[in-house]
Amino acid sequence: MTSIRILWIGGGSLGLMFAARCALAQEGTNALLVRNEQQYHILNGQGLELIGDDGRFTAFLPCFQNVPPADSRDSWDWIALMVKQTHLADERTAVQLETLASLYPHANWVCFQNGTGHIERLSSIIPRERLHIAVTTEAARKLDDRTVHHTGRGMTFIGSPEAAPGPEYQEKMLIQALGKAGFDARVSNNIKETVWKKLLINAVINPLTAILRIRNGELLESRERIDWMRELFQEGLAVARAEGVNLSPGLWEELLSVCRRTANNHSSMLQDIMNGRRTEMEWINGSLLKAGARHGLELPAHAAVVRRIREMERDNRG
Ligand code: PAF
Repeated sequence: MTSIRILWIGGGSLGLMFAARCALAQEGTNALLVRNEQQYHILNGQGLELIGDDGRFTAFLPCFQNVPPADSRDSWDWIALMVKQTHLADERTAVQLETLASLYPHANWVCFQNGTGHIERLSSIIPRERLHIAVTTEAARKLDDRTVHHTGRGMTFIGSPEAAPGPEYQEKMLIQALGKAGFDARVSNNIKETVWKKLLINAVINPLTAILRIRNGELLESRERIDWMRELFQEGLAVARAEGVNLSPGLWEELLSVCRRTANNHSSMLQDIMNGRRTEMEWINGSLLKAGARHGLELPAHAAVVRRIREMERDNRG
């Protein structure tokens, strides 16, 4: 099997975890790009530490800041975009991605973001046929700039935003590389449905855990909380239907099971609030509101949580 070369962008929990596992599985074919100068120096000096259910390992892989320097500009088969939606919306990131797209015109891009809206935005920078979507349920927690804990095994689906007839060769190569690193990765021929499933799960768990400042499992501890979850879920389901995505009502059970499986986790939105960062709410609940408005649907439960999270973000900034 020929190995593929992957450039991972993003020094957050998922970026560090995926890059570490892939670098450990296949030496010399992965590199990591971060934007924070301190993290860049630490990773280059001490390596990337991964703690998992299989042990503790140190991965040494080239780490760059912003753009790979001219003397290390190998060609990359894949560029994996692991940064949050909040970073993608930033002008500095847009300029960086434009530079990368022109340096590596033959690379395929795979985007791991929560929520929706980013593929449309990225299409103005990267040719759409080179963009692929990844939806993952892997869970990781960044402990410091060079240490990441792989807290939960999950699955990763990869597919094209276009209704492609079947998986391309390049997608299969990426799946193989991820498989070699121990990930359960699969091609999805209906990535839109997979994106919507995750969107609805995030649109319920994330704002409620952030507003109530509780762990995911605590959502199931009272009738009121479950009723609140159901309201958000039903509104989301109606928007998906209006968008032509027929999600099965069985998704409600899946949502409850995500709460049970990740019972001890702080959701990503709660972590953002606790750390004074902007959340991804605009791309999760906000994108549902926008899609609902296109179809004349009112979403009072989502509108209320959007208002509350915006207020919490404002308090954090203040
Ligand atoms: O965003 C998150 O935190 C996760 O996607 C999920 C599924 C809500 C579990 O914490």
